[in-house]
Amino acid sequence: MTKDFLRPHMGRINGHPVLMVDGKPLILLAGEVHNSNSSSLAYMEQVWEKADALGMNCLLLPVTWELTEPEEGKFNFSIVRGLIEQARRYGKKISFLWFGAWKNAQCYYAPEWVKTDPARFHRAQVVKGKSFIYNSDFYDMPYSSLSYLCEETCRADARAFGRLMAYIREIDSGEHTVVSVQVENETGLMGAAREHSDEADALFAAPVPQDFADYMHSHRGEAMDVVKDALEKGKASGTWEKVFGDQAEEIFSAYHIALYVNAVAEAGKKEYPLPFTVNCWLNKPGEAPGSYPSGGPVSQMMEVWRYCAPNIDIFAPDIYVPNFTEVCEEYTRNGNPLYIPECATHGYAGARAVLCVGRYHGICYSPFGFEDMGEPFTSQQMVLFGADVTDPALQTPQDVEVYGKLNRMLGSMMPLLTEKYGTEDLQASSGEISDTAAFEMGDYRICASFRKKAGVCLVLRVSENGFYLIVQDVSLSFQSANPEKPGIDILALEEGAFADGVWQPGRRLNGDEAVLNTYEGPAMLRVKLFVYS
Ligand code: DGJ
Repeated sequence: MTKDFLRPHMGRINGHPVLMVDGKPLILLAGEVHNSNSSSLAYMEQVWEKADALGMNCLLLPVTWELTEPEEGKFNFSIVRGLIEQARRYGKKISFLWFGAWKNAQCYYAPEWVKTDPARFHRAQVVKGKSFIYNSDFYDMPYSSLSYLCEETCRADARAFGRLMAYIREIDSGEHTVVSVQVENETGLMGAAREHSDEADALFAAPVPQDFADYMHSHRGEAMDVVKDALEKGKASGTWEKVFGDQAEEIFSAYHIALYVNAVAEAGKKEYPLPFTVNCWLNKPGEAPGSYPSGGPVSQMMEVWRYCAPNIDIFAPDIYVPNFTEVCEEYTRNGNPLYIPECATHGYAGARAVLCVGRYHGICYSPFGFEDMGEPFTSQQMVLFGADVTDPALQTPQDVEVYGKLNRMLGSMMPLLTEKYGTEDLQASSGEISDTAAFEMGDYRICASFRKKAGVCLVLRVSENGFYLIVQDVSLSFQSANPEKPGIDILALEEGAFADGVWQPGRRLNGDEAVLNTYEGPAMLRVKLFVYS
């Protein structure tokens, strides 16, 4: 095996995209820390401990431009080194999050020398002539961001990111502790659909670059409906409004932001080509661009990002909204793998981890602020999370013990699971999706009836009649799916667990237990079935 083959990179299994690390597919059963925690190595000790208790194999950790380059051209990577050393000590992987020009569509983490020199590092004009507003669409929060059109900012951001990646290569290319990197954090512009400086106005009134207009037109079949409709009505060339109609302003922002992020990513890829992601502050139905960050990688802007940012491998949703599965469907369109860098720690967190793996064959599932998992949300946290307070699940915290068990079950089966990525032999559903589910696999139909919304069932078929299941709050029944062999027997049903890849049986379930087939807390089952006529 060559060294390149061992380096974390995107690969395919059964045609399905996977993250390969050390020559093997790896599912990141991860957690993202609160924004400030990875700035202190001492503070992080307790965080690694909690991650361990929750069965996590990877942490998503911010690295900030302000601490990395406190003075222009003078870099300090001591925290990066310390975090990598800690991860190795705890036997975990890291995905770093580069908080550069953008963090939640603002510029909180730009260094002082950037923030204090607006003549060189231009701020975005949300309103003509104004680079600072109180955002009436978002809790009247003070708002300012760096301009996506400022080449000087992009150059400085890219240089710092390039140095970070060179440093990671230097200390980690032999060990592969760092497995992926997020470029910027929740990019986009708040308060308006596009910038309004004279420069922005002039660019918006000018023709759309023809290569981009051509690409969008030739890929309109892949676009979400709103963009497809706009393209169908729009012209083949001309100004942004002529080509993209009512989507013009958001597409204009997405085009420039994606080009900016691509340039930053390119500087990093040249140094050390790890898989790169971008995360997205999602829009809610009916929201106008600017109420959510306009130009970020929301699903309707994905084609724009795909064209403008080829150095980005994965578009990743931060899911705090109730329609979890809808978002998962949108972010697995056109071959994008499901990578969830942020989601809430409410009562569906565990079941959704199982869905991410079993239903979507995802690469990463990572509750945000997992340090607080198990504690109810305060109203302030609800605001911060942009949470939909009408979702009752947000009022109920995830049970940490249950989460740890589910995560450890998924982790213990990893090679078996990833072997079946991209196939019908790995399926899952939950009570959040429907009260019942039927998994058809070969001659068999495994039926699940969920006792709670957070009930979940993952089915993995490993041989013609052999299955492993992860279950929680569910009743099961087994049926024949072969009309010529309608009879079915359970040849073997047992609880158990994998230890070092080997199945360790627990109770053999038969008699009443096999008839009732009802499970509360998380359990792993091995099942052997038989159909006959
Ligand atoms: C989304 C951001 O990406 C995170 O860094 C964090 O700010 C959460 N929102 C909520 O606190």
